[in-house]
Amino acid sequence: MINPGRPRNQSRSTRSMPFSGLEYADPKKKGNLIGKILLAAALTALCIIMLKQSPSFNTTNFSKHEEGVTHVLVTGGAGYIGSHAALRLLKDKYRVTIVDNLSRGNLGAVKVLQELFPEPGRLQFIYADLGDAKAVNKIFSENAFDAVIHFAAVAYVGESTLDPLKYYHNITSNTLVVLESMAAKGVKTLIYSSTCATYGEPEKMPITEETPQAPINPYGKAKKMAEDIILDFSKNSEMGVMILRYFNVIGSDPEGRLGEAPRPELRDHGRISGACFDAARGIITGLKVKGTDYSTADGTCVRDYIDVNDLVDAHVKALERAKPSKVGIYNVGTGKGRSVKEFVEACKKATAADIKVDFEPRRPGDYAEVYSDPTKIRRELNWTAKHTDLQESLEIAWRWQKAHRDGYGST
Ligand SMILES: NC(=O)c1ccc[n+]([C@@H]2O[C@H](COP(=O)([O-])OP(=O)(O)OC[C@H]3O[C@@H](n4cnc5c(N)ncnc54)[C@H](O)[C@@H]3O)[C@@H](O)[C@H]2O)c1
Repeated sequence: MINPGRPRNQSRSTRSMPFSGLEYADPKKKGNLIGKILLAAALTALCIIMLKQSPSFNTTNFSKHEEGVTHVLVTGGAGYIGSHAALRLLKDKYRVTIVDNLSRGNLGAVKVLQELFPEPGRLQFIYADLGDAKAVNKIFSENAFDAVIHFAAVAYVGESTLDPLKYYHNITSNTLVVLESMAAKGVKTLIYSSTCATYGEPEKMPITEETPQAPINPYGKAKKMAEDIILDFSKNSEMGVMILRYFNVIGSDPEGRLGEAPRPELRDHGRISGACFDAARGIITGLKVKGTDYSTADGTCVRDYIDVNDLVDAHVKALERAKPSKVGIYNVGTGKGRSVKEFVEACKKATAADIKVDFEPRRPGDYAEVYSDPTKIRRELNWTAKHTDLQESLEIAWRWQKAHRDGYGST
């Protein structure tokens, strides 16, 4: 910042000349000199004060490892799950760098986090696309990460069948880019966001981590390929890897600071909670429940809904317990299946809206029941889902939705 303005190739003897020259200065110039020294001192002090007040003053915090501080790169941290994870990490005193291309996430979520944690060296946001290997390498060169939680992805099953290449590129190929940068810079811990979609249609429920993976759509296949790349790499590396396979994620921050706000154009591919809230608000006329003749208790499909706060807790536990050269693979679900009918009833109560529900024939490709066996994560990471009241999770999410009719745009 303070540049003496001296040419680099100046010799030592030349550099010392002005000082020796001063000894012989004439007394009339002395007052001048003292004035100059005072002015220089005042300017230096001013520069330091200005620097200290500048938000970028402590960017060195991000570029250097610091004893006792874990610096986590959260890819996709402007998205639904990533922003909730960043909030929890910041609360737990981690240093966080969010990298996101905002293709699906919200800058508004990042702003909320920045307002909550404005102190230097806590949170920085970098706008970048993980498909841009040069940009990613630069980010890894300029920042001293201790760990990476890789959330960034496109994540809609329906969209993946319409545009599979987008999914293989964004999920599989971008994971390779992140992994290569991590390997090049010796970042030792990776927590990877995977999904129960990698299991496909298992014959036996509940799904354990040993259940064979046989994904049936490009989204699940792209995630499985990314997992395979990570696992192959980890065989000859010291990296500590945790792969978390989530089930259906719902809910939001109980203090109402963050929520789920996908782009309106993604509504068609959307998730059941988004559809329920849209129906409660009258954005869509009602809900269509596809299939009432499955071999389940009430005939509708059964899924495992995991609250985002529990999910984030699983990430923190995984981060704390990741060990060099070790791989952990965990299902993150409640272990309890809930039917679509149950979900819709809980949503009606949570929103107090009289949601119109039409029951229609089955949709091809839907399977009757999907729920996890969370024994392994309970045993090894001491994690269990705590927010298992569907209505309560939906009430919290609905509060945020009601207060943010245009998502983060209206805050
Ligand atoms: N939401 C669920 O129910 C669910 C279930 C299982 C797994 N997952 C996984 O969890 C992760 C997060 O999902 P989410 O629901 O928060 O989705 P989201 O769309 O809200 O968040 C994804 C974020 O990644 C960013 N992103 C996407 N491509 C990027 C790129 N090339 N470069 C930089 N940033 C990019 C988006 O802008 C967005 O902010 C995903 O990996 C998803 O596959 C989600």
